[in-house]
Amino acid sequence: MNEYDSERMASIISEDAGFETARDEAGADVIILNTCSVRKHAEERAMSYIGRHIKDKKVIVAGCMAQSMKKELKKQFPRLYAIVGTFKFGEIGEIIRKGGIHTEEAKGVYSVDVRRGKKVRAFIAIMQGCDNFCSYCIVPFVRGREKSRTAVEIKKEIMELAKTGCLEVTLLGQNVNSYNDNGMNFPALLRELVNVEGIERIRFMTSHPKDLTDGLIDTVASHEKLCKHFHLPVQSGSGRILELMNRKYTADEYRQKVSKIRERIPGVSVTTDVLVGFPGETEADFMETADLVRDIMFDDAYIFKYSVRPGTKAESLGDDVPEKEKLRRLNYILDLQKKISEDINNKLLGNVYKVLCYGKSPKNKGEVLATTGNNKKIYIKGEKEMIGALFMVKLVEPRGGGTFTGEVVK
Ligand code: 5AD
Ligand code: SF4
Repeated sequence: MNEYDSERMASIISEDAGFETARDEAGADVIILNTCSVRKHAEERAMSYIGRHIKDKKVIVAGCMAQSMKKELKKQFPRLYAIVGTFKFGEIGEIIRKGGIHTEEAKGVYSVDVRRGKKVRAFIAIMQGCDNFCSYCIVPFVRGREKSRTAVEIKKEIMELAKTGCLEVTLLGQNVNSYNDNGMNFPALLRELVNVEGIERIRFMTSHPKDLTDGLIDTVASHEKLCKHFHLPVQSGSGRILELMNRKYTADEYRQKVSKIRERIPGVSVTTDVLVGFPGETEADFMETADLVRDIMFDDAYIFKYSVRPGTKAESLGDDVPEKEKLRRLNYILDLQKKISEDINNKLLGNVYKVLCYGKSPKNKGEVLATTGNNKKIYIKGEKEMIGALFMVKLVEPRGGGTFTGEVVK
């Protein structure tokens, strides 16, 4: 979501005749820092970045920290040029000219008027905000209540993208499964969007397990354009902790949903988020998480250490798992997941997939990057002419970080 918001701001600025993108910070007059508040660490890094640049540059702080830390930011950095909250990204052009603080909640949702360059893959927000109030999470406080964009608007934007040569869109929302445009639910939206000519693939994230329906699973199963990948954050394997987190599902219900996805969608990949060190998480609770990760065998997992977020319900529970223990639990799951991902990926060697080639390899000359529908990343020999096309590719070798080397098959 942040990457998408940065893109939107960049597109507005680059369209504006008064501005040009600088190569690096040194060459810039204005620096816009788009921030995340989901964990304390991200905020700390942003604060130190601001500290490094505030003396020489006009610094604008945009995004979640602008909503959550307006007062602290002003106090610590009185020279900040502007603060742009999560509802005001669309006004960035004006704000660069006049500076000041802009954090009031807007009435509408994102406008369609996002101008972008030619791209093979694009993000598109289908909704904003979140109503779930998971007890550890700051998102509902910094991005407001959940609001869905209209299907008409979304489809129009995707048709525009298709005209510029875009082949893959990723639909974004904090909880895409609860999308609702006057009764049109998420599976219905997907069934509408698969008709957009030129778009070959549709991805979406994030799905909340409590709202993942049979209807969604069946829709994904039955349309070729819908990518066979679910990002389904579990957070914990302990029923007690899940309840304290206000996640509204049990570990068993979660396991059953994943089984159903795998039964109905062969070759599907399932990834997750895991949160360790939630207040009161005992060794036994943690072991339930480790067991779940071991049993389910996710394709990949993002693992985080809990940090207190001001204003959330969990703030009142304290923060009683010592930092060292949180780190041990984090590393335990990281190691476990690494082995599982390797095992899964090794079994895929020799398989042939239809892949979308989307960019040059950042490190290796003569190689390009591609993804499978089920979200595996593959390096293949080739030049930039291949970008923006689909190929049949055989996975020949595993590579670091869950990636593969592949070969084009005729
Ligand atoms: N501390 C650590 N991780 C968090 N996340 C959300 N809130 C917190 C927090 N307070 C993680 C969750 C979520 C992901 C985007 O970030 O795992 O799924
Ligand atoms: Fe945060 Fe929960 Fe909403 Fe996800 S669903 S953004 S974790 S409150």
